[in-house]
Amino acid sequence: MAVIAKHCPDIKVTVVDINPEQIKKWNSDKLPIFEPGLDDVVKAVRGKNLFFTTDIDAAIKESAMIFVSVNTPTKTTGVGAGRAANLRMWELAARHIAKVANGPKIVIEKSTLPVRTAHSMRRVLNANDRKIEFEILSNPEFLAEGTAMGDLTKPDRILIGGMNTDAGKKAIAQLVWVYKHWVPEERILTTNLWSSELSKLVANAFLAQRISSINSISALCEITGAYVQEVSRAIGFDHRIGPYFLNASVGFGGSCFQKDILNLVYLCESFGLDTVAAYWNQVVIMNDWQKKRFSMKIIEKLFNTISGKKIALYGFAFKKNTGDTRETPALFVAGHLLEERAKIAIYDPKVDPEQVKHDFEEYKLMPAGCKFEDYVTIYNDPYAAAKESHAVAVITEWDEFKTYDYSKIYASMSKPAFVFDGRNILDHAALKQIGFDVFAIGKPFGSKISMDDLS
Ligand code: UDX
Repeated sequence: MAVIAKHCPDIKVTVVDINPEQIKKWNSDKLPIFEPGLDDVVKAVRGKNLFFTTDIDAAIKESAMIFVSVNTPTKTTGVGAGRAANLRMWELAARHIAKVANGPKIVIEKSTLPVRTAHSMRRVLNANDRKIEFEILSNPEFLAEGTAMGDLTKPDRILIGGMNTDAGKKAIAQLVWVYKHWVPEERILTTNLWSSELSKLVANAFLAQRISSINSISALCEITGAYVQEVSRAIGFDHRIGPYFLNASVGFGGSCFQKDILNLVYLCESFGLDTVAAYWNQVVIMNDWQKKRFSMKIIEKLFNTISGKKIALYGFAFKKNTGDTRETPALFVAGHLLEERAKIAIYDPKVDPEQVKHDFEEYKLMPAGCKFEDYVTIYNDPYAAAKESHAVAVITEWDEFKTYDYSKIYASMSKPAFVFDGRNILDHAALKQIGFDVFAIGKPFGSKISMDDLS
């Protein structure tokens, strides 16, 4: 919304939330999320044509278009638990709009929703007894965290789905007009409602599938002596494959990939397409296996006993340049190490310590009888986190991890000292030179021997 406000000075944008704390933060100097470049844009337009308020009813009445961006987490109970999206928030928002609106509105799905939700929501909205007409559009968001401002300013495409009726076409044209302020028209795609909704799920499923594909190959590389980065580079040069999203890792995280694939799986199952469902579900299974493989490797290399050993996790966010920890592989790895009663030391440049604690509670990671404070310590200095540890495990690909003085880190650690690079970002030859035992995703494990000697 901040980017729309920046590019469309002729449009007034009002962001509303039922949570006053959240709105207060959006109106303050410290925004509630860290996203490179966001502060500048918000500060430039806030109070001019971008407003944050809890006065939801006034904003509904005043607006011609309403973007609904509520969260749609995976259902935890009832039909489809563990896979289907929970649409409660979306339906509540739609019902509230229907109740308060004083004239026709265009309601836009920004949240990622299962196919045909727009259809149901259209019915909910148009069931009002005041005969107010609502037109519904699907306009999925493709931005990625950490690069959001660039993704929004120069999007690969804008996707707008709507009904194939006169009113539907008119609504689509109005939203196209908004984006045309800064996006070239040929990049604005219009489709029917369901194609648009499905495309979002499919885009995320394809992206995640690439990661699971290369992660599966990383396991093969570790055994056979190939280097997964060389394989990624070699296949990525084929223009039909392309170079992006081929970084083998400790596993993908984030609020979207797993949730959206599970949603797709649920959809397929509910239409009787069991083989299609199993095909996509395998992307998630492979991701879980990769996360487990990484933590198992730590346990195995530390002589199958990590009880009481300090292990430093470098990075807790699900990727670099964000403080977001949703579905981060760090949680999975930490949980697994805790089951073996390791002592976990966490350092992340952007994640709030309170968030880490909250995540451990939410995911119930502490084994029975173990207190968080006794097993997990959060550091604001990476050197202190590594001190007296047996291993440093890189979970997030923060650039600053590449710049540390690893000789100093090595000197302060228990010996033998291990590095587990879950992102393949460190200089492994240099680390081995210092004396570390190095394990990296998709590289054969070498203990002070040149990997090239492995044949
Ligand atoms: C994703 C989609 O990219 C975006 O288009 C959609 O709108 C929302 O979901 P996001 O979750 O912010 O965005 O992050 P993304 O950059 O896609 O990374 C997701 C996860 O995959 C991260 O944990 C990342 O570290 C991991 N990843 C990504 C890899 O492990 N290897 C890669 O090559 C790329």
